Amino acid sequence: MTDLSPAALEQLEADALLLVANTADATALEAARVALLGKQGRISALLGQMGGLSIEDRKTVGPRLNGLRDAVSGAIAARKAALDSAALDARLAAERVDLTLPAPPRRKGSVHPTMQAMDEMVAIFAEMGFSVAEGPDIEDDFHNFTALNFPPRHPAREMHDTFFFKAGPYGAPKLLRTHTSPVQVRAMQRTNEKPPAPWIATGCEPPIRIVVPGRTYRMDSDATHTPMFHQIEGLVIDKAIHMGHLKWTLETFVARYFETDAVTARFRPHHFPFTEPSAEMDIGCDRSGGELKIGQGSDWLEILGCGMVHPNVLTNCGIDAEVYQGFAFGLGVDRLAMLKYGIPDLRDMFASDTRWLAHYGFSAFAAPNPASGLS
Ligand code: PHE
Repeated sequence: MTDLSPAALEQLEADALLLVANTADATALEAARVALLGKQGRISALLGQMGGLSIEDRKTVGPRLNGLRDAVSGAIAARKAALDSAALDARLAAERVDLTLPAPPRRKGSVHPTMQAMDEMVAIFAEMGFSVAEGPDIEDDFHNFTALNFPPRHPAREMHDTFFFKAGPYGAPKLLRTHTSPVQVRAMQRTNEKPPAPWIATGCEPPIRIVVPGRTYRMDSDATHTPMFHQIEGLVIDKAIHMGHLKWTLETFVARYFETDAVTARFRPHHFPFTEPSAEMDIGCDRSGGELKIGQGSDWLEILGCGMVHPNVLTNCGIDAEVYQGFAFGLGVDRLAMLKYGIPDLRDMFASDTRWLAHYGFSAFAAPNPASGLS
């Protein structure tokens, strides 16, 4: 039988409170709780002995033991609260965000030189009063060839090294457009639509003044050709448009694009099925010293094809060739981007190497516009 004298109980209470107060963490506190108040615990054991006491003793020892039990369980609850709050403080201190540390660097995207050049070109033509028109990359034979005056089985069709799709149940196989010229066909056809396309100022007939930026495809792949490349097509149709307008437009464009008035140009006779007369435009350059310089020297560099729209094309698109005429041109955007920004290999333009892009790319915030500067 354990000692239930007041002195013994006082000693037990002191020991118990000390044990609880000295616990270092939640595990130790739980162990102390079990040792004192658990089923086999010291205080529980004393309470279990109550039954063996006389009624007299029970009256004094009972309240004393109950008080002891309440004091100890109160101490345990208080200690638990203290330990929990200390643990929270420790976590808060350990997990604090240090706002004075520099932020980790973030990778920034950049604008591809082809897209930059395209935006620059569109900005220049927009300032001259051109609208932007677009059309599908997947075309049919009519828009890509026939309407553009390519005779059936004409070798010029093969010249374009066309990617054809498998023939479907509904007529001739579709193809990936080999140039942006099919969009001029679509634009001219749209002038006959009622109601008229919203960008045609005067209703169901020309004038038309559009540029067509977009992707084009040919089965061709070497140091200067990729199976996908970018073109900008231009088309101007009105009653009195002539070669002089064509020359001025392109010479002005080239001077704006290369940002020098020193650039010289010449127009060399050429052949395209859809223009008559047709020409290729060369710009003056200097190749001596291994580096290409635009606007100086006595060499020539071919940069685009152009000409007066063939009357057959106008007729094929529902425009009266007796009343209207105009000019068209088409140029390779990737090539002009390489020339302007000193990019040596065309294939790098499509390699998706982010180091290359970081070097040659442009800030998205530096969008070209003719007022603040193009590049
Ligand atoms: N479509 C021609 C090509 O891709 C370029 C061109 C367009 C030439 C318009 C003349 C007029 O080769």
